[in-house]
Amino acid sequence: MTDALITGITGQDGSYLAEFLIEKGYKIHGLVRRSSIMSRPRIEQLYFKNYNVNTKNIELHYGDLGDSSSLNRILKKCEPDEIYNLAAQSHVAISFNTPEYTGDVTGLGVVRLLDAVRDMGVKSKFYQASSSEMYGKVKNSPQTEDTPFNPQSPYACAKVFAYHITKMYREAYNMFACNGILFNHESPRRGINFVTRKITLSLARIKMGLQDKLSLGNLDAKRDWGYAKDYIEAMWMMLQHDKADDYVIAMGQNHSVREFAEKAAKILDFEIEWQGEGVKEKGVDSNTGKVIIEVVPKFYRPLDVHDLLGDPSKAKEILKWSPKVSFEELIEIMVKADLESVRREKDGMTEIY
Ligand code: NAP
Ligand code: GDD
Repeated sequence: MTDALITGITGQDGSYLAEFLIEKGYKIHGLVRRSSIMSRPRIEQLYFKNYNVNTKNIELHYGDLGDSSSLNRILKKCEPDEIYNLAAQSHVAISFNTPEYTGDVTGLGVVRLLDAVRDMGVKSKFYQASSSEMYGKVKNSPQTEDTPFNPQSPYACAKVFAYHITKMYREAYNMFACNGILFNHESPRRGINFVTRKITLSLARIKMGLQDKLSLGNLDAKRDWGYAKDYIEAMWMMLQHDKADDYVIAMGQNHSVREFAEKAAKILDFEIEWQGEGVKEKGVDSNTGKVIIEVVPKFYRPLDVHDLLGDPSKAKEILKWSPKVSFEELIEIMVKADLESVRREKDGMTEIY
């Protein structure tokens, strides 16, 4: 049986990856943090279905990327064949409020883990969750594995460090270590303060009469958005290849926040008509004349990344990876899931992720 350690197992990607690897017959070790509420909605169902005192197909271990001793202890106990390092303070806007913490966990956390692997002499393959955010104020478009980085946030600076240290450990210590440079990927499990999920959940709540307006920041930012379930497969493919390398994972097309909101609204039978400019801009539902989208300055960032577009040719050619879900299908999946969860919320039932 192959053992995999997933840091960030309680997050969007970690939860999908754990399901994917269990299906493939892996034993999963998940690193989890202590929190005051024992709630892990994204993995609860998977855990109770697969945890059994005898087989233990999934085991959770307390640790933290800020704590080397926990990383050493977990590696010693699990001796994983594959490590997927998905844990991070992953919110770009919040990284401006917590720059030092973000640098510590998202940046230094990676060298803590890599060094623990080296120290233990464990022969684990290592995946690092690198990010398109590293390209920042882009130097070339579309972005490939050779495009220079130009980070625009504490989060992106931390990810650039993590990228280089992963590459450096590969070259210096002959470790099988890969960087997946993933462009934005979303799903019904996306955290509700990332823009796509904020849009689909808020519009579903407006539709059901539980909310008046959706408040957004920069409507013109463009992202190359794909479906998280397609992207976690690419992580696994990188570790199955005979040579460790770095790959861009993207759809190869981008769209604005404005376009995402319009398409999501249409699925719910709203027709958005934009009126005004800048912070005065509003999205009016032309069926009712009601303002349902407003621009609120607090959602602007001190620096933003305006236009990301990935070129996944290398992953397509070498790994034979390709995405299955289109941009339009992704929006539909998210809107429908949120409408369902809001209906449950209205009926007094707990939301299920
Ligand atoms: P996410 O939903 O925010 O999940 C982050 C995970 O990291 C959670 O499980 C969180 O645990 C854990 N974590 C945070 N701080 C930690 C710490 N100090 N020690 C241990 N665990 C900690 O992120 P995601 O969207 O799944 O993304 C996964 C990874 O890919 C992240 O590294 C992200 O930066 C990167 N990435 C994401 C995208 C994207 O579009 N989604 C694109 C490129 C790269 P709690 O549940 O306890 O908070
Ligand atoms: N979160 C948020 N909330 N973003 C908004 C809002 C809002 O109300 N209004 C406009 N935006 C804009 C942001 O300014 C940004 O330009 C864009 O929407 C996308 O923001 P997010 O969804 O927060 O994602 P991100 O691109 O900053 O970061 C995500 O993708 C990265 C990959 O490029 C995160 O998942 C990162 O962890 C990941 O590395």
